[in-house]
Amino acid sequence: MGFAGKTAISTGAASGMGLLFAQCWAAEGGNVLMCDVNEPVLMEKVAEINAKDGGRACGIVCDVRDYGQVCAARDRAVAEFGSIDLMANFAGGTARRMLKVDGSLEFPDVPIDVYDWGIDVNLKGPFYFAHAVMKQMREQKSGLIINIGSITGAEGDGAGTDYPTAKSGLMYGLTKSLAQYGAKYNVRCVCVSPGPVLTRPAMANMKTLLGRAADPQEIIDLILFIASDKGQFINGTNIMIDGGRDAMGRWH
Ligand SMILES: NC(=O)c1ccc[n+]([C@@H]2O[C@H](COP(=O)([O-])OP(=O)(O)OC[C@H]3O[C@@H](n4cnc5c(N)ncnc54)[C@H](O)[C@@H]3O)[C@@H](O)[C@H]2O)c1
Repeated sequence: MGFAGKTAISTGAASGMGLLFAQCWAAEGGNVLMCDVNEPVLMEKVAEINAKDGGRACGIVCDVRDYGQVCAARDRAVAEFGSIDLMANFAGGTARRMLKVDGSLEFPDVPIDVYDWGIDVNLKGPFYFAHAVMKQMREQKSGLIINIGSITGAEGDGAGTDYPTAKSGLMYGLTKSLAQYGAKYNVRCVCVSPGPVLTRPAMANMKTLLGRAADPQEIIDLILFIASDKGQFINGTNIMIDGGRDAMGRWH
């Protein structure tokens, strides 16, 4: 797909779509810096990629909430591979689920530090990475930033307020702003917003017009298309990939 010798950074790369993206990018000949907080699993996955033909993988422990660690990840990618062509912000999730908060608690009863985590990982992390990698992309005069939104960013969620708040910030404000700033440096920014994706079996319970959840590969294939020569005119927009859930209206 034309990714040989190009470099991607993938966050949340120890599992789910961040990992699958790294595997597919490397299989296409690209090099990838994989970032996650789960060091043992991350390093195992890096080794698996490097045991196969294709591009090289490197792993770095990076909490996307920590700007110093984000800059260290950017510097490592440039030192190892010489450029940053694609920044993919996969790290994220609903704070209530990720931090195992009692599901019966209502919005004001959930401790504020739970929401801090949700806003920081889902919104501040991609903002930090955009700020850090834009310096490199501006110098290169090329680059692509992929944010990962969610159907929940369009729907809201009264039971998990941090997540839709953060995701809608990515889908609209951050993605459009980065595209506006980046244009004169040939840097694009696109948000890809999935509906339910089978990185967890429970996602099969979420309704869509097509009556199923997405295979993770369907999401990664869209991102690879956006990054490929054929996807170069896609910029500054949010693309829903949700089996029609956003269009369900009263069929919901
Ligand atoms: N799975 C779905 O149905 C779905 C739907 C819409 C959007 N999304 C979004 O897609 C993205 C990937 O989802 P997934 O289900 O593949 O994820 P996942 O839960 O399988 O993986 C998330 C990864 O992020 C890492 N992580 C957590 N906190 C981190 C931090 N502070 N810094 C760095 N890494 C951290 C975890 O260790 C984990 O490896 C997320 O942003 C999610 O919100 C998922």
